[in-house]
Amino acid sequence: EKGGYDYFMLKEIAEQPKAVADTLLGRIDPSGSLTLDEVRISPSELREVDKVVIVACGTAFHAGLIAKYAIEHWTRIPCEVELASEFRYRDPILDGRSLVIAISQSGETMDTLMALRHAREQGSKVLAICNTNGSTIPRESDAVLYTHAGPEVAVASTKAFLTQLVACYLVALYLGQVRGTKWGDEIQAVIKDLSRISEEVERVLETMEPVRALARTLASKNTVLFLGRHVGYPVALEGALKLKELAYMHAEGFAAGELKHGPIALIEEDLPVVVVVPSPRGRSVLHDKIVSNIQEIRARGARTIVIAEEGDEAVVPYADHLIRIPVTPTLLQPLVATVPLQVFACELATARGNEVDQPRNLAKSVTVE
Ligand code: M6R
Repeated sequence: EKGGYDYFMLKEIAEQPKAVADTLLGRIDPSGSLTLDEVRISPSELREVDKVVIVACGTAFHAGLIAKYAIEHWTRIPCEVELASEFRYRDPILDGRSLVIAISQSGETMDTLMALRHAREQGSKVLAICNTNGSTIPRESDAVLYTHAGPEVAVASTKAFLTQLVACYLVALYLGQVRGTKWGDEIQAVIKDLSRISEEVERVLETMEPVRALARTLASKNTVLFLGRHVGYPVALEGALKLKELAYMHAEGFAAGELKHGPIALIEEDLPVVVVVPSPRGRSVLHDKIVSNIQEIRARGARTIVIAEEGDEAVVPYADHLIRIPVTPTLLQPLVATVPLQVFACELATARGNEVDQPRNLAKSVTVE
C-alpha cells in the first residue's frame, strides 16, 4: 500500500501534484470564477464579515499563517491567526460578524475542536477546512471546504498542508469575489496561476535529488535554522517543524528581519541556514532585504542553503547550496517552496536512522488537549 515507496511520507510527498489538482477540481468554473457551493455561508453573510480568525495547530497553523497574507491582501478584511490551544484561554473578541476558519487534516484535533466550539458559543460562524470526510470538526462547523488530499498516513503532514494552502487561497479569493475588491483583475490572474500550480509542484519534485544528497551530508549536525520573510516566514516555520519531528534535530524558523534582534548571535562556522527567498519580481524590496540577510549570515560563517526562484541571479554569489523553485506569484510561492523542505527533512530522518512515518512521541491526530 506504500505504492513502491519506502515510506508513506515519500508516497504522500509524491502525491502532492494530484492532491493540489484534486482540491481545485470543480471549484473553478470555465469562466474563471469560483464556485464554492459547499460553503454554506451565504454571500450576504460573507459580505457582513468584518474579521477573520483562523485557528489550527502545528502544520495546519502554518497554513493559516500563510492564509492571512492572502485574505488580507485580496479582501482587506483583518485576519488573525491563532494557535487553537491558546485561543479560548484568552477571552478572544468574537461576535456574529467574525468568520472563524478552523483548519485540520484529521478533523479530530481536540485543541481545534475546543476553539471552534468556543467561537460558535460567541455567535461566530465557523468554516472548517478539513481533509477527513465526516470527522468531528466539519460536523460541528457551520460549513466545510474539504481538501482532497486523500488519506494521509505519515504522521508528518505534507500533502494535507499543500491542499490546506489551496483551500485557504480559494476561500480568500472567494471572499474577494463575493465582496468585490479592487484586486478583481489580479484575482482572475491568480485563479489561472493556481490551476497551473500542480504542474509546478511536479517540476519541483523532479529536481529533488540534490536536496537529498545535501541532506545526507548534514546528518551529524545538531542545529538547522530556517529564515523567511512575508509568506516565506511561515514556510520557514514549517521547514523547521518537519525537521524537528522527523530528524529530532534542533530546528528553528525565524523571520529574516528579526535576525539582528537576537538570532544572529546563534550563527557560527558551518551552521546550516536554509533561506526562503521571495521573488525578485513584484515586492522586490523584500528580495533585496533577504539578499543582505544572506550576506550577513554568510559573513559570519553560516552554510547557506538558499531556496530561490529560477532566474534569480542575485542570490548566486552567497549561496553555498542553491535550490531552484519555479517562478510563481508571491502569495502562491509557499506551494512550491515547502516541497524541498519536506524532502530535506525526510531524507535527514532516514540518514539518521529514524522511523520516518512514525516519529517518536507523536500521534497522527492529537485527540487530547
Ligand atoms: O489533524 P490536524 O491538521 O488538526 O493536526 C494538526 C497538527 O497536529 C499536525 O499538523 C502536526 O503538527 C503534524 N504532525 C505536522 O507534521
